[in-house]
Amino acid sequence: MEIKFVSGLADVIAAQTEISSVDGKRGVLRYRGYGIEDLADNSSFEEVCYLLLYGKLPTKAQLNGFKNKLKKEQKLSKPVQDFIKGSPKTSNPMDVLRTAVSIIGVYAKKETLVDSSVRLIAKVPIIITAFGRVIQNKKILQPKPKLSIAGNFLYMLNGKVSKLEEEIFDVCLILHAEHGMNASTFSARVAASTRTDIYSAITAAIATLKGPRHGGANEKVLEMVKEIKTEKNVESYIMKRLKKKVRIMGFGHRVYRIKDPRAYILEERSKELARKTKSNFYDILKKVEKIMEREVGHKGIWPNVDFFSGSVYNSLKIPPKLFTPIFALGRVPGWCAHLLEEYQPANRIMRPKAIYIGPKQRKYIPISKR
Ligand code: CMC
Repeated sequence: MEIKFVSGLADVIAAQTEISSVDGKRGVLRYRGYGIEDLADNSSFEEVCYLLLYGKLPTKAQLNGFKNKLKKEQKLSKPVQDFIKGSPKTSNPMDVLRTAVSIIGVYAKKETLVDSSVRLIAKVPIIITAFGRVIQNKKILQPKPKLSIAGNFLYMLNGKVSKLEEEIFDVCLILHAEHGMNASTFSARVAASTRTDIYSAITAAIATLKGPRHGGANEKVLEMVKEIKTEKNVESYIMKRLKKKVRIMGFGHRVYRIKDPRAYILEERSKELARKTKSNFYDILKKVEKIMEREVGHKGIWPNVDFFSGSVYNSLKIPPKLFTPIFALGRVPGWCAHLLEEYQPANRIMRPKAIYIGPKQRKYIPISKR
């Protein structure tokens, strides 16, 4: 059999999964068989977490029990709090999140994987908002029992939250919850294939998500929109970059060859919020999209999930530094579901090969003669 190197492992099948399916040609994303449009319109993030972890939608009683479990975990131990408060304010929040999760792992008790998953889903938003408050020199707030994960995130960050803001942010979290074998999920599964613990595997996932080609793109999209300033600058801004072969953030995807289905849903929210806040970000984004369609649409480069999310977060008064951590917050249930799958006894350690392309045999020269 001929062994071939596949750049970026494109189309390489590394696992079998029951968690989600992505049809990149038709632009369809389903979590455990449910279309994301249905989940975004009708479910809550908590319900989606349950679906991903347990494989089915919860009954009312099951969802209430799950929410109660989450609420009990919405606090941080002293070592984690001290670490967050002591981190330099200039730190990358993804570094703070990664290390905080790692510290939780240091103190973790022996428990089921589902219990550890619930712990992580509950604590990650608390870590991000605590550091968000530290950056803003504000007192750290405690979660309110009546609010959802989405509502509490915005409340703990900004000190207040409206019903509309809570609903829109909840949709954002649902849309980020799972996406097949993306780079961070793959990292988590590689780690878990060695049978390391769940906290180590999630730490690896957070480290991978930090990169600008993965989770870091939405922050860059917002930077771009701020640099462009007005609609009339869009054409020259984009063309200058494309000529220099600079990638436009928020475009392109390994799987989708057409517009990401999540981008359609976020686009609606971005438009709604732009109208309310009288911001021109949505109009700028739509012009960027038009020019990109003309220039690179034929290559299968279309808006991805990150293209509209930054403008939505900006309207929700979330600092850009926290955009990638929000991606992580949304993705924790997806990562955990994949870990539950990867830890199944039948799965083998992941160990691909590399084709050696270095020099053939070399004669060794002792250091004194080199
Ligand atoms: N802007 C302009 N051209 C692009 C872009 C872009 N954003 N993305 C890809 N291309 C071009 C690329 O230059 C190449 O052109 P050519 O064939 O002429 O050399 C062609 O499209 C194929 O690119 P690729 O690098 O082979 O594509 P990939 O599948 O390896 O990379 C990607 C996928 C998402 C890393 C890439 O599209 C990218 O860097 N996008 C910008 C970053 C971004 O928005 N990331 C968020 C992804 S969605 C959230 C997530 O799941 O992480």
